[in-house]
Amino acid sequence: MTLDPILAPHRSIRVFRPEPLADGMTERLVADAQRAPSDATGQMYSFVRIRDRALRRRVSELSGDQRHIVEAPEFLIVCADIRRLTRVLEHRDQVPGRFPATGLHFATVDATLAAQRLVDAAEAVGLGTVCIGGILTGIEALVELLALPAGVMPLFGVCIGWPGEEPVERPRVAMASVLHADRYRDQDAEAIERDLNAMASTTRSGDWARVLARYFGAGGIMEQREAGLRRTLEHQGFAWTREG
Ligand SMILES: Cc1cc2nc3c(=O)[nH]c(=O)nc-3n(C[C@H](O)[C@H](O)[C@H](O)COP(=O)(O)O)c2cc1C
Repeated sequence: MTLDPILAPHRSIRVFRPEPLADGMTERLVADAQRAPSDATGQMYSFVRIRDRALRRRVSELSGDQRHIVEAPEFLIVCADIRRLTRVLEHRDQVPGRFPATGLHFATVDATLAAQRLVDAAEAVGLGTVCIGGILTGIEALVELLALPAGVMPLFGVCIGWPGEEPVERPRVAMASVLHADRYRDQDAEAIERDLNAMASTTRSGDWARVLARYFGAGGIMEQREAGLRRTLEHQGFAWTREG
């Protein structure tokens, strides 16, 4: 059940038809994204549109060779961006504050809200999208490749294009697992089993815990990404110590 008849059903699309988007369509999607709410009016995000074919191939290589990155008519990198507002302050001779943790937090929220609106706007006109967290795999090289300055942090990519597949709607955990009343409560074993069953069909093995372990388990993909991400956060000015 959905409350909103306007929201198109969402499915990530990984196979795209080769037709490009009509002229000006990407700009219209970005205009929709820009209507997202934004903390303190900051609009702390940038989209880097990857148009050059050779650059796109290189970004795909750095992201685990995901074919849809090369084949999608449009590919944007969503970035947290506190640089632009810092430059506004400097332009008016104001001294920018130092707030790497807060900046990362709010810029990530702003960027993600804007990107979700872009995805919703794309799906509303029949386009397909898939977010690409795989950019974290080669994040240090990516920052160099796109000449991202301090204060700008790549978060994820978004492929956009006309769908060349019709995947089934993928499952989610039970609403009771994500909706808490007044206080947070951990799931009991029964609820965990209920979610494992609900998510089984999204996996090849039928075992969602195995998929989660591949990503989030000891030695998994997230641990492998950790060192590069930390170095990039530091390089881009989003690192902090207990002292400051
Ligand atoms: C931040 C983020 C990163 C993602 N990274 C990738 C990715 O690198 N490659 C990919 O094929 N799908 C990626 N996805 C898509 C998810 O796999 C997909 O949303 C999930 O399996 C649920 O399927 P659905 O979107 O069709 O409902 C990503 C999604 C998000 C939100």
